[in-house]
Amino acid sequence: MSAKNIWTHKGTFLLAAVGSAVGLGNLWRFPYLTGENGGGAFILIYALTIAMVGIPILIAETLLGRASRRSPIMGMKYLTESHGTSAAWQTIGWMGAAAAFIILSFYSVIAGWAIHYTWLLFSGELAGADSETIGAAFGTLLGSPELLLTYHTLFILASGLIVGMGIHKGIEGSLRFMMPALFLILLIVLGYAVIVGDAGAAMRFLFTFNLEDLSLEGWLQAMGQSFFTLSLGMGAIMAYGAYMSSEASLTRTAISIALVDTLIALMAGVAIFALVFGAGMEAGQGPGLMFVTLPIAFADLPGGSILGGIFFILVIGAALTSAISLVEPVAAWLVERFGMSRPLAVTVMVLGCWALGLLTVFSFNVWEKDSWSHALFGRSPFDVLEFLTNIMMPVGGLLIALFAGWALTREEVLREMNTNDRWFAVWQFLVRFIAPMAVAFVFLRTIPQIEG
Ligand code: PHE
Ligand code: NA
Repeated sequence: MSAKNIWTHKGTFLLAAVGSAVGLGNLWRFPYLTGENGGGAFILIYALTIAMVGIPILIAETLLGRASRRSPIMGMKYLTESHGTSAAWQTIGWMGAAAAFIILSFYSVIAGWAIHYTWLLFSGELAGADSETIGAAFGTLLGSPELLLTYHTLFILASGLIVGMGIHKGIEGSLRFMMPALFLILLIVLGYAVIVGDAGAAMRFLFTFNLEDLSLEGWLQAMGQSFFTLSLGMGAIMAYGAYMSSEASLTRTAISIALVDTLIALMAGVAIFALVFGAGMEAGQGPGLMFVTLPIAFADLPGGSILGGIFFILVIGAALTSAISLVEPVAAWLVERFGMSRPLAVTVMVLGCWALGLLTVFSFNVWEKDSWSHALFGRSPFDVLEFLTNIMMPVGGLLIALFAGWALTREEVLREMNTNDRWFAVWQFLVRFIAPMAVAFVFLRTIPQIEG
């Protein structure tokens, strides 16, 4: 494979993977899950699942990408054929690409909400508004298919433009400028939150824990979150791994990705809870934490319109660097398999995701209740799609762990893992036994929810 399909520098994969990892999962999902699950207790089990399950599978998925140097679908075909193992393993590639397609379709709609809030805050429209007004503003947004559709279209178009420009000019070029800028914005928001908010209360909430807060539900959510936040099981990491320099260390890179991702989630958590507690509100608000509770805090605080607007720019940017990693696996496959030009492949992928995204757009208004989807599945189309990906992620991760842990030979793995053998043994143990058992457990617990 030509050097054209390798990242420019040894460290570019790290940059790209961090761009993929840091997103709505860190800024929106992690804080509200922590809030719902009692704070410090959740963070403790989350850190454990990242270390024992997330990092080993992250190494495995990167390894599969780099060993094949192809898009996930073609890569798994190549690995199984050259290895002479069952074609059933190719499910990893197909399911990853399908999951990336589905996730992007709703990720884009939710990221679009942040565009609306950037505008709402900068315009000063929310300054001094009371909590009913702000709660109603969220309802108005969700109730409007036109608004949701506009933002969804804008967001997915932006991701397509970046990926369409290629992995060097488009993906690398945008990440090299966006990642430092986003980190700077996070520092500014954190500094502001510490000054005007209640950082002490936020730290106590996040870093002290009661054993009685540990629940089975919390474990399951922590495991799901560690997959989502590290972008695992969706072909994104495999697709980026295909372009990774052969010299970079798999273990060291994966640990760095997980550390940066966790650090950013914690910084976002401190900032958000300092603001929320400073405004005298509660942590356990669920998904509305970012879109209702936080805007209420910003409305109340000095300089809140400007800083709130800046915060939502951070949300849009972080979501964008994740979205491009969801476009890549399918687009790269279309290029490889059908010889499409990259711009055409990206257009096909983005148009398809845009259309599928309509299901999510209408789930919050015209199909909110009593639709065909409720009749068929007992839930909205968005809930069905989210549920599907919640199954595909652990199954994909399980298969990746089993394939890398059991199907590949020691020689094949050591060709990629040129670090020392002690880490190899630790990784192999985790990826063979601990990760599959943990994921299978989560999976078996998710299945009964099909009824609900
Ligand atoms: N890791 C991203 C986040 O935390 C979400 C994501 C999942 C991105 C899978 C790409 C692939 O928001
Ligand atoms: Na993340």
